[in-house]
Amino acid sequence: MDRWPKDVGIRAIHFVVPSLYVDQTDLERYDQAAEGKYTIGLGQKQMGFCTDLEDINSLCLTAVSQLVENNGIDYTDIGRLEVGTETIIDKSKSVKSVLMKLFQPSGNFQVEGIDTTNACYGGTAALFNALSWIESSAWDGRLAIVVAADIAVYAKGNARPTGGAGAVAMLVGPDAPLVIERGLRGSYMNHAYDFFKPDLTSEYPVVDGKLSIQCYLNALDQCYKSYRSKCGKKCNLNEFDSFVFHTPYCKLVQKSLARLYLNDFVNSDSKSEDYPGLERFQDISLPDTYFDRDVEKAFMERSKDTFERMTKPSLLLASRVGNMYTPSVYGGLASYLVSLSVDQLPDKKIGVFSYGSGLASSMYSIRVSGNDGLPALISNLKKSFDNLERRLRVSPENFTEVLEIRQKALHQAPYVPIGNKSDLFPGTWYLSSVDEMHRRYYERKES
Ligand code: ACO
Repeated sequence: MDRWPKDVGIRAIHFVVPSLYVDQTDLERYDQAAEGKYTIGLGQKQMGFCTDLEDINSLCLTAVSQLVENNGIDYTDIGRLEVGTETIIDKSKSVKSVLMKLFQPSGNFQVEGIDTTNACYGGTAALFNALSWIESSAWDGRLAIVVAADIAVYAKGNARPTGGAGAVAMLVGPDAPLVIERGLRGSYMNHAYDFFKPDLTSEYPVVDGKLSIQCYLNALDQCYKSYRSKCGKKCNLNEFDSFVFHTPYCKLVQKSLARLYLNDFVNSDSKSEDYPGLERFQDISLPDTYFDRDVEKAFMERSKDTFERMTKPSLLLASRVGNMYTPSVYGGLASYLVSLSVDQLPDKKIGVFSYGSGLASSMYSIRVSGNDGLPALISNLKKSFDNLERRLRVSPENFTEVLEIRQKALHQAPYVPIGNKSDLFPGTWYLSSVDEMHRRYYERKES
């Protein structure tokens, strides 16, 4: 036990958001959806998307290279690189192997890790792999990078406004400002066809929307139960300063925080003292309440202040970029971190819920240490947020056209992307061409 490295966790975070977005009010009008359905009903403001110039490899190249440059890391410092994604280009060759192109000039080819896939959960599995490596006998003292990235696009219809795109790269090692709490992890894995991608000729998933929400909420209940069982005392939401969630759309996260509150209520031995006014729900059973409007309304109202304080600040990226799939929960973490000043952060405890359809889910917690690396982590992370304001608002007509181009371009070879390079942010890697053997070539827009 004593030989475990101290304070293993996240030492730096860098975010990449697409340079283009569609506004959700514009999309409501274009889709002839009821006014407010996407903005109030789903809680979304904007949705980021990529043209055919960007794919999963280019997004990860951008995230990793910018993480390394912004944080003064040398590629030789890295002994493990893990990728979490559900955006598949090649059934055999990993995104990770493409990223090794960044390591070539340094001569460091001794970098373990490959890709991990299970819907939106792959980034968390990748992070767990990196933590396990650092706490194992195989660790050679170097740092790990975890990159989670996806392009989340849906076919025309009610799921389309819940898309998004993005990438997050995290530097993982000992003596970290964001310490992953040891031994405090609850997981729930099961078989369900709530969201999956059986058609390899399309980027679009097959989705059973209602089932996916039920699976998500059930996984949340199960992970919370398992996490609480490891706390060593009767722990509840009061243990945490913040709770961040995988965010398919912001409204579901508000319901999820209310769901944790409901779990606390169900587990309380003194309901009438601790939860006055909610006694009428004292005999409910959690599995019967996924779509119970009375329960949902009562607990959302009761947990509103807790939500505003603990979770709403974490929804900045999710509301303005959309569901990024694997990076989504880490977008929540990043948004929460930049919502406070550096001196408010030490000792904060952040609960994390990660969910991937199919299904895989985990809950764990992060303790912010007052370590010297914290100011640099926050100031470098803030730079990633600058691009949010520099994005270009695109009409729903252009957005739809871009998705059609992406769909046609998928698996075309040879192919030269037709997207506009001038729309990309400086320092972005992009796909320059695909040759007749489907080999993909990338270039970088100058910083
Ligand atoms: N003003 C305000 N609110 C409105 C309006 C309006 N005019 N119209 C509808 N709403 C509300 C609805 O009441 C509903 O709220 P509720 O959830 O509190 O009941 C909300 O807007 C959404 O409306 P629905 O009719 O339920 O939406 P629909 O069924 O068309 O689609 C869904 C929603 C299922 C989430 C769909 O977007 C989808 O399938 N998305 C992809 C799957 C997904 O994200 N699943 C979540 C977990 S899995 C994952 O991460 C991929």
